[in-house]
Amino acid sequence: MEHFKNPRNMGELEDADAVGEHGNPVCGDLMYIYIKVKDDKIDDISFQTFGCAAAIATSSMITELAKGKTLDEAMKITRNDVADALDGLPPIKLHCSNLAADALQDAIKKYREK
Ligand code: FES
Repeated sequence: MEHFKNPRNMGELEDADAVGEHGNPVCGDLMYIYIKVKDDKIDDISFQTFGCAAAIATSSMITELAKGKTLDEAMKITRNDVADALDGLPPIKLHCSNLAADALQDAIKKYREK
């Protein structure tokens, strides 16, 4: 609830090096993750999420988990890592944490393709 009420790193990141995107076709929620990379590490990160409270909380948490990590380390962050860092999610909301992990991986993939 804390990460939903006071989300960290929310909003578009100007001059992002890559933008990852992931949506859930069932509920229609959509998430963007913006990254800035320096020396192969995530120097800055932010998100825009159009979705439920759990999706916003997981977005906020994944930005905290990924900041400062190398791209390889960030690529390994799983939806379970995000849910655990939030002290768990209700089972019906576990799928929401997929959005954050998948959007971050998409951002890293796009950065590497550049
Ligand atoms: Fe769609 Fe949570 S209900 S991501």
